[in-house]
Amino acid sequence: MASIYIETFGCQMNEADSRYIADRATASGYEIATDPALASVVVLNTCTVRDNAERRAYGRMSHFKALKTADPAMKIVVCGCLAEQDRDRMQTLAPHVDAVFGTSDLVRLGDALAAWRPDFVDDEASEARALLRPLGGAADCVTDGYSHLRAFVTVQRGCSYYCTFCIVPHVRGRFDHRPMGEILAEVRSAIAAGARELTLVGQTVNAYRDPAGGADFADLLETVAALPGLERLTFVTSHPKDFTEKLARTLGAVPQLNPRLHLPVQSGSDALLRRMNRKYTIAQYEEKVGWLREHAPDCVLTTDLIVAFPGESEADFEATLELCGRMGFAQAFMFVYSPRRGTPAALWEQIPPEVGGERLRRLAQTVDRGIRALHRTKTGSVVRALVQGPSRKDPAKLAAKTLENITVVVPDAGLREDEVVARPWLEVRVDEAFTWGCTGTLTGIAEHFDGPARPVAGPAYDLLALR
Ligand code: SAM
Ligand code: F3S
Repeated sequence: MASIYIETFGCQMNEADSRYIADRATASGYEIATDPALASVVVLNTCTVRDNAERRAYGRMSHFKALKTADPAMKIVVCGCLAEQDRDRMQTLAPHVDAVFGTSDLVRLGDALAAWRPDFVDDEASEARALLRPLGGAADCVTDGYSHLRAFVTVQRGCSYYCTFCIVPHVRGRFDHRPMGEILAEVRSAIAAGARELTLVGQTVNAYRDPAGGADFADLLETVAALPGLERLTFVTSHPKDFTEKLARTLGAVPQLNPRLHLPVQSGSDALLRRMNRKYTIAQYEEKVGWLREHAPDCVLTTDLIVAFPGESEADFEATLELCGRMGFAQAFMFVYSPRRGTPAALWEQIPPEVGGERLRRLAQTVDRGIRALHRTKTGSVVRALVQGPSRKDPAKLAAKTLENITVVVPDAGLREDEVVARPWLEVRVDEAFTWGCTGTLTGIAEHFDGPARPVAGPAYDLLALR
């Protein structure tokens, strides 16, 4: 049987695109492969937002070249942002790649997959089958048995904000908001496929406007949350400029919404925010966070930060440190600025990499203190967390995520995968807090987030001790 292996780099937009590719592939009769060496088609969904993502993608392409030498019938496909940016260059750098599809070409990739099947018959039935799934279908491309519990639905493509460091508008184009009706149809099919937590994704989701009816993002959240069977709802990424008091109220009022907001601030210095073309000041950012604290006090705040952006003085950097100390971010993705071809900041005078590395370390220390403090508040409490699967470090443990997106790891109590998938909400007593998350004890498993939990028996040696 034809099989497809899909490897994804980058943001949740790419993750959603990979699921679409998997959906189209399974509709065309492919199996999802977990090992690229055994696949008939290998898809690399790339990112170009920073230089290391780009280098890793080219590294993977040369790894796949060896597989293709062993099996010349294998097709290698590159898609995503790097494919959009390097379409021509890739033909020289990686001539063994069979096809390159840019970010707007995914439908064509779906059609090519159907045609590449060894037993492909170009009849009307197969054409109809390929057309069955609408763009952005909720496939299960992640290869474990737990992946269908989380679904990602794209609400908008592209971005029109042109931050001076960012490649996204150059490779993904300007905003293209999907009609609300299309989004709702996709959410319904994700719920029917077993999704317990739904993430609405876009580069700047809170700039969303329904092209048909004019609804804004808060309206969209309320409508999605009201769909029967939806357990939990969340969204990434929001832009501070478009974060409104209405959205803060919605976060506090809609019970299905997870208590978390990802609001990238990038820097604590107004001078840098201006050079980055971020369209807000720190005072405005703090005012918006004030709305969140007022209307949704249980909501945790997470962010993205860039250090060593061109022109960042020690005083600018210290303003970022101070901001992080004040805000107590629950999580922060921290990056050293990486010049991107074709963006304005790449042409400006650069800060030496060793300064960037040193600032990143200092920033991480400050941010980690806030994260640990938050995690410590969980110890001794009982939380519900949606299972992710066996822990990567120890397969006898289960990893799960709380509503605030805090990782919890617990011994699996000898439960089988099918038992956990049927009752994916772990009830966990939190025992110890770390920067990466918390460890705890599994006390129960529940079918629904707000339903009763079935108690989990203690480990076997407890029973022996009772004899
Ligand atoms: N749309 C989101 C927003 O408005 O913040 C961000 C999208 S971007 C793909 C994700 C994060 O990558 C950004 O928030 C930024 O912190 C980081 N990033 C983007 N371009 C970068 C660059 N050239 N160098 C370092 N970090 C970068
Ligand atoms: Fe990039 Fe700024 Fe848009 S970070 S995705 S240009 S809001």
